[in-house]
Parts: sequence; structure tokens; C-alpha cells
Amino acid sequence: MKKLLDLLTEEMGKAFEAAGYDGALGKVGLSNRPDLCEFQCNGAMAGAKQYHKAPIMIANDVAAKLTESKVFQEAVAVAPGFLNLKLHKSYLKELLDTMSGEEKFGLEAPAKAKRIMIDYGGANVAKPLHVGHLRSAVIGESVKRINRYVGHEVIGDAHLGDWGLQMGLVIVGLKERYPDWVYFDESYQGEYPEEAPFTISELEEIYPASSIRSKEDAEYKAKAMEATFKFQQGVRGYWALGKKIREVSIVDLKKNYSALNVEFELWNGESSIKDLIPEMVQYMKDGGWAYISDGALVVDVKEETDTKEMPPCMILKSDGASLYNTTDLATILDRVRNYDPDQIIYLTDKRQDLYFQQVFRCARKTKLVKPETELTWMSFGTVNGKDGKPFKTRDGGVMRLEQLISDTRQEMYRKICEGREMSEEEAHKVADQVALAALIYGDLSNQASKDYIFDMEKFTSFEGDTGPYILYTIVRIKSILAKYAQQGGDVEKAVLGEAQSDSEKALMLLLAQFNSMMEGAAAELAPHRVCAYIYELANDFNHFYHETKILTEENETRKAGWIALLKLTRDVLQDCISVLGFDAPEKM
Ligand code: ARG
Repeated sequence: MKKLLDLLTEEMGKAFEAAGYDGALGKVGLSNRPDLCEFQCNGAMAGAKQYHKAPIMIANDVAAKLTESKVFQEAVAVAPGFLNLKLHKSYLKELLDTMSGEEKFGLEAPAKAKRIMIDYGGANVAKPLHVGHLRSAVIGESVKRINRYVGHEVIGDAHLGDWGLQMGLVIVGLKERYPDWVYFDESYQGEYPEEAPFTISELEEIYPASSIRSKEDAEYKAKAMEATFKFQQGVRGYWALGKKIREVSIVDLKKNYSALNVEFELWNGESSIKDLIPEMVQYMKDGGWAYISDGALVVDVKEETDTKEMPPCMILKSDGASLYNTTDLATILDRVRNYDPDQIIYLTDKRQDLYFQQVFRCARKTKLVKPETELTWMSFGTVNGKDGKPFKTRDGGVMRLEQLISDTRQEMYRKICEGREMSEEEAHKVADQVALAALIYGDLSNQASKDYIFDMEKFTSFEGDTGPYILYTIVRIKSILAKYAQQGGDVEKAVLGEAQSDSEKALMLLLAQFNSMMEGAAAELAPHRVCAYIYELANDFNHFYHETKILTEENETRKAGWIALLKLTRDVLQDCISVLGFDAPEKM
């Protein structure tokens, strides 16, 4: 189904032509004055110069051609030359009929489906997820689902941080505790044990202790760096131990991510491309791009138009060790070879701005990617506390993601129990579900690039621009539909009617804009647009609901029409929350 504004623009274009003007002037947009009209066209203003005529004269000519329109019930020329527009209720009803009958409610498949890879999550092995990881996970998951929904092929990759110093820190931490492990016997030739000799809790204890020690003890730090280097070089025991650290971490991370409804297709890491590094380095040298500067191997990525300093992209350190850049570049090579993506989207916090500019420029300059491959960095702001500083625990520590989730669940449980009748088990289940919506919506309703304040009270509220409010609205609709069915009505057979009131028409108008909203959200990588849409939709629905006695309506056709409208509203809301990454309970 075509987008509503395109359909209206077509109709308006014909009227301009019929009145003897250029049809291209008939662009219709949403109204700036919703109190006066639903849509407007400013084409007469634009045409004034071209036709040496007062805009109001043009607008009058066009309006005269629309008196018989099946689309516009009202097309009024107002000074100085705007066309204020209202739709026919019959036209709107037909549009929603079409929309209801189409898969994805009238959203058209993209002209060319892309293969997109999304690199998100940003978790580092042996380190617990903290509140900063919430954003990458939640935004990335939603961008993935939105793009998939509109018809692209999307592959999510966790791209674990399993390459840097933290690997060395964990390895030396283990070595201090267990110096006799075969992993540290460099003469050992046999197989290494299947089973990991440690648990995730042990790793999470070792890493911070080792990290603190390395900051105070230079010798210890040197050992950690050496262990990192040996691991990166693939020294057997170190590599095998690193693999176990990774495996144990992944089990734990999967648990944490699944609590957020986040799922990755690929669990690759920075270390997955170890074997591609020598080849890539050689290729960059052979191509004449990489050269030695102060002992390090670098690629210049400065461009003439740069106004800020742009340091070269470092490929290898002077000791031959590879860096974060190296693994990101080799990962691009790997992705191109194995998946040939049209676009790669990276999610990280905004501090990595310069870094991604360097990496992308380097990848382009050295032709790791085709010129048409899009490399997109999607940055996000910080989660702050009410004091405007990065969100911390009460005693000032880093807030673990697990803790944040469990606090939110608890708060939601408390609210669900207030005055509601549900078994304890059910209340917990519902609370967990609503808590997730509170967290995800609280995050996604903000434009990703901006910082936001984590406000538990606000996020878990059943009123206002929140996840629980959206779910509450869906549950309300479900309950009306269930009651209708109990009265003997058939929800599936209910047929839409024409709007009976302004509030009903407003709801219908908004529903008709679903396809263009979703297309825009995908193209702009903007989950917040979906949030804004469903918030407005929920408000419009509740407005209509408070004005309309649905179930006691005596005219059965009219009642069925409302039921059909409710069903469509529910389905649209449902698809929207599903691309945001959460779901609605049956009751709450
Ligand atoms: N692990 C990194 C961090 O904690 C984020 C990884 C982002 N993705 C990437 N391809 N560099 O900062």
C-alpha cells in the first residue's frame, strides 16, 4: 500500500494540473494547525513566482477542482495561499480496510533488500555487563528488528571484547593462583582439558583484582602485557585458556542478554579473526598504504578537507602487537568475505567517534570494502542518574546490568501488587515482562545520540510516555476484545466502519500512517520514532475509548466497526513493541 502522504500528493497533483498548473506543486504534508485541518498543501505559495499570480488565486483555482474529490472532503484556500485539507471518512475507512488486509499493515517491501550486519552489545569477556552496555544491546536489537521487519536481511554480531589487555590480566590472575596448570607449561604438547577449570564468578573476581594490581605493580602489568601478547600470537596454552575464558563468559552473557530479549546470530569476537591479521597486514603493506612510523605500522587517513587533527590509523604497535583497530579492520575483511554485507552498522558510545572515523577511512582507503558498502557508526549517549552524572549504585559503584534489571523488576512487582488480584507467581511473571518494557522503552524513547536520565519512578509509571503505559493500553484493548467475544461477537469477522467522532477519526488517521513511520524509522535507524508513534497511538486510542461506550452500543454494525478498529490498533501496537524488543502480557 502506498504511503498516505503520497496518495494525497497524487490527488493534489491532479488538481493542480486540472487547474492548469504544474502537478509537482501538489505536495501534501501533515497540518501545522491540527485545530484547523488534517493536512495542508503549500504548493500555491511556491507557484506564485512561476505563474506571476497571487498565491491565493492559485489556491482558489485548485480548491475549485477538488469539490468532487473522493479523497478530500474539504479543501479550503486560506490567505495568503494555503490549502487546508480534511479527508473523507469513507476514503479513510477504505484505506484502513486495505491496510488491515495487508501483511505488515501496508508496509511495502524495500526496492532493494539490503544485507545488513549489526555489531552491537559490546560485551567484554570476563567482565560483567554494566549499565553502559544496556544501550548498545537494546538499541542494536531494535535497529535489527526494525530493519528486518521492513524487509532487509540483518545479521547481529556480538563482537565480544576478547583480545585486549583484559585477556592478559585474567590469564596472569589465573597463573598466580594456579601456576601448575598445563596451560602454563609451554613444553606441554598434549590435548587441553575439555572442561573449563574455573567458573564465571571466579573470573569476575579475578579480573578486577588483577586490574587493580596491574595499576599499582609495574612488574605485574608487564606480565599481563606479555600474557596478552602470547595469547594474541596464539601460543598454545594461552590460546587454549583464552578460549575457555571466552566459552565460560558466553554462557553467562547469553543469560544476561536473554533477560533483555537480546539475541545475536553470531557470537564472534575480536579474537575470531586472529589468523586474518598477518594476511591483512601484508596486504596493506603491499598496497603501499601501511608504513612504519616511530616503529609502529600505520596508515594515513587524513583528508585534505579535514579541519580537525586526524591521526594515522595504527595497525601494529612497535612491538608487533595488534590493537583494537587491527581487530576491527580484520573483522571487516572477515565480514566482507563471509557475508558480503551492503552495510555494517556499529553501535558504541559516543566517545569512540574519532576511532570509527579512522577505522572507516582506513577500510575505504585500503579497499577492504567496496566503494558502495555503507559503514555506519551509530553512537549513543550516556545513561545518567538524577544528578546528571553517569548512573551509579547508591554507594557510587558501577551499576551492574543484572542489578538494574532486578531492581526494575522489584519496583514493577510492587506496583503490580498494589490493588491487583493475581497469584504471586503470575504477578512476578507479569512484573518481569512489564519491567522489561519499562527499561527498553525508557531507553529507546530517547533519541539514541542523546544522554538520558534513568528515572525508575518515571520509567515504571503506568501513565505518561512509558513502556508500562503502552502495555496497559494493549491489555485494555485485549480485554475489550475478549469481552466482545464473551458476548458472542466474532472479533475476526468484525468489519470497519466510518469514523463517528473526531477522536475516532484521529485514531484512524494515525493508524494510516503506520507504513511511512516504520519505513522512516528503519531508514533513519531511529527506534525513538516507533516509540513516539505508539505513544501518540495509545493516547489517541485512550481518548477515543473514554468518549465511546463500545460494548454497550446497541447498533451491532457500529459496535463491530469499533471492534475492528480496536483489533487493528492492537495489532499495530503489537508489531511496534515487538520491533522495539518487548511483549505485552494478557493481564496486568
Ligand atoms: N568491546 C568494546 C568496548 O567495550 C565495544 C566494541 C564495539 N564494536 C566494535 N566493533 N569496535 O568498548
